[in-house]
Amino acid sequence: MKDNRRHLVIAGVLVIVGTVVAYIVLTAIYALPVAASAEASAIDQLFTGHFAMIAFLFSLIIVFMLYSIFAFSRREGDDSDGVHFHGNTALEIAWTGLPLVAVVVFGIWGQQVLDDITAVESNELTVEVVGRSTWVWEFYYPEFDNLRSAELWLPVNRPVRFLLRAEGATDDQLGVNHAFWVPEFRVKRDLIEGQVYDVRVTPTMIGDFRLRCAELCGTGHAAMLAEVHVVSQADFDDWVAEARSNAAALAGLTPEERGARHAIDSGCVGCHSIDGTVVVGPSWLGLFGREEMLSDGTTVVVDEAYLYDSIVNPQAQIVAGYESQLMPVLLTDDDRLKVDDIIAYIKSLEE
Ligand code: CUA
Repeated sequence: MKDNRRHLVIAGVLVIVGTVVAYIVLTAIYALPVAASAEASAIDQLFTGHFAMIAFLFSLIIVFMLYSIFAFSRREGDDSDGVHFHGNTALEIAWTGLPLVAVVVFGIWGQQVLDDITAVESNELTVEVVGRSTWVWEFYYPEFDNLRSAELWLPVNRPVRFLLRAEGATDDQLGVNHAFWVPEFRVKRDLIEGQVYDVRVTPTMIGDFRLRCAELCGTGHAAMLAEVHVVSQADFDDWVAEARSNAAALAGLTPEERGARHAIDSGCVGCHSIDGTVVVGPSWLGLFGREEMLSDGTTVVVDEAYLYDSIVNPQAQIVAGYESQLMPVLLTDDDRLKVDDIIAYIKSLEE
């Protein structure tokens, strides 16, 4: 009996040491990014609780197993039978009861955190988020005449209610599933096509973050990113004013007229003339519908899909004779929203 107690004390101490070591290793491997929202602290506490529980259970099982192997293995020359016993009521109650308590505690704790981070708050800024099947995120601000943006701008410390949905290339097409995830905000929401989801976040840290798609949604999944800017209220007001005046300037224009403006703003016309002369790249005059010879000897008819690919991924299909010209890829999300207008403009440039 005295011997049993000694074994238990030693194993108990080893379990405590093992728990601490496992916890340190776990939190180092699964280090969380900076916490940039009010929701993050409650979620991080829940993470800490889970990590502690996982470290303890891992240590409990591994220590008792290894300790038994070393302390109770057969000694040299000992051929006697082991002690025969039937069950151990106290142990069975313990290993049934303790996990039950742990699961119930974590269940209640998790529910409280969920209630906490989904609670409706006053003065919420509503932002509609659309994940397109073309792997683009779009943001709409109903509070500001449904202002559209390709980047997510948020004022610091104001609660935000995101209304999330997945759509096709346009709103009336079928979309594919995506997932809205800003790791620094700690929130993540799967978007099933045809549903609208609520997510609430109060950004608490000024800085630039990144929205990622966390659902494998096709070939462009890895590139389905959007910049997130959390700024002061004054900077946010400035951004809204500028974006609204830009939107107003473009509002009365046709897609062709907008495309003509984008072509100047984005620098396209520096290399592509609209009068047939060759500057750096092929001229846009009469380009649409023409058959082009590519550098690999194949030909392609210039249609909308070809123009789209050529703007988004210019090195994929190069027109023969232009192999040495490197066209810059339109990198910003704002540029991607302009592509349709630029294509409309190119279509209008008939000979
Ligand atoms: Cu959208 Cu992955």
